[in-house]
Amino acid sequence: MDLNLRNKIAIVTGASRGLGFATALLLAQEGARVAINSRNPENIEMASQKIYHLTGTPVLPIAGDVSQSETAQRVIEKVAQEWGGVDILITNAGGPPAGKFESFSLEDWQNAVNLNFISAVTLIQAALPYLRKSAAPAVLTVTSISVKQPIDGLVLSNSVRAATIGLTKSLALELGKDGIRFNSILPGWTSTERVEQLLHHRAKTNNSTIEEERQKIASQTALGRLADPQEFARVAVFLVSPAASYLTGSMIAVDGGFYRGTF
Ligand SMILES: NC(=O)c1ccc[n+]([C@@H]2O[C@H](COP(=O)([O-])OP(=O)(O)OC[C@H]3O[C@@H](n4cnc5c(N)ncnc54)[C@H](OP(=O)(O)O)[C@@H]3O)[C@@H](O)[C@H]2O)c1
Repeated sequence: MDLNLRNKIAIVTGASRGLGFATALLLAQEGARVAINSRNPENIEMASQKIYHLTGTPVLPIAGDVSQSETAQRVIEKVAQEWGGVDILITNAGGPPAGKFESFSLEDWQNAVNLNFISAVTLIQAALPYLRKSAAPAVLTVTSISVKQPIDGLVLSNSVRAATIGLTKSLALELGKDGIRFNSILPGWTSTERVEQLLHHRAKTNNSTIEEERQKIASQTALGRLADPQEFARVAVFLVSPAASYLTGSMIAVDGGFYRGTF
């Protein structure tokens, strides 16, 4: 199947490593021009060189914190200036810290809202004029399976990501007739640096080892293991590709059967 991504202009934020990087790499392998973002200028530059060496496709690295609205707008404008438009936007960033409700201040809540919700709002707002001009526009928000089944010790993430689901579904309905598709992936446990940090936090809290914590999580999934970031990326790249032209407003769990409900 041809995903029809050749020369499409794609933006992936939070993409120096983990889910974002795996997705940007696969988009480039499919022939898309990819702009990638993360906060650390050296890391995003290194990630862009890695993608270029592996694919020969031009990559545009843009450093900046997407939880700050001006940065989110700057990322979109830079891509539009350099490449003349935007076809695909994948809103992604880091996750909020782990911890229990009583350990967080109002400022922690505000930071989580800015990181995982307002970033998506501002990126989409800034990209919309360009998406309207695209022949195959698509937006993918990266949220978490925790919106369906809250995860212990992640109250900030469990709460804030639900707002992004509301945004994604509302925009799918509001802008579907303009031809713009909006979907979300709800990743389950995927082996990235973020998950290594969470395992470390759990091992410390439970007085156990990281390996024991990894096994506990694996045993909660139907497939009995954590995902590899490429398993997330393959679904993400399909969802934003013209091959998924009749898919919008879908919240797709890529969780190895972690979620135990029937729907
Ligand atoms: N992995 C999982 O199992 C899983 C499951 C459910 C949900 N998620 C969510 O999916 C997202 C990606 O997860 P991941 O595991 O790939 O995380 P990760 O390994 O921590 O990678 C996060 C990426 O985002 C960048 N980043 C962090 N904060 C940013 C910001 N404010 N602005 C721009 N870039 C930022 C990081 O680079 P810099 O440090 O250079 O900014 C890095 O490239 C997170 O929101 C995570 O909570 C992950």
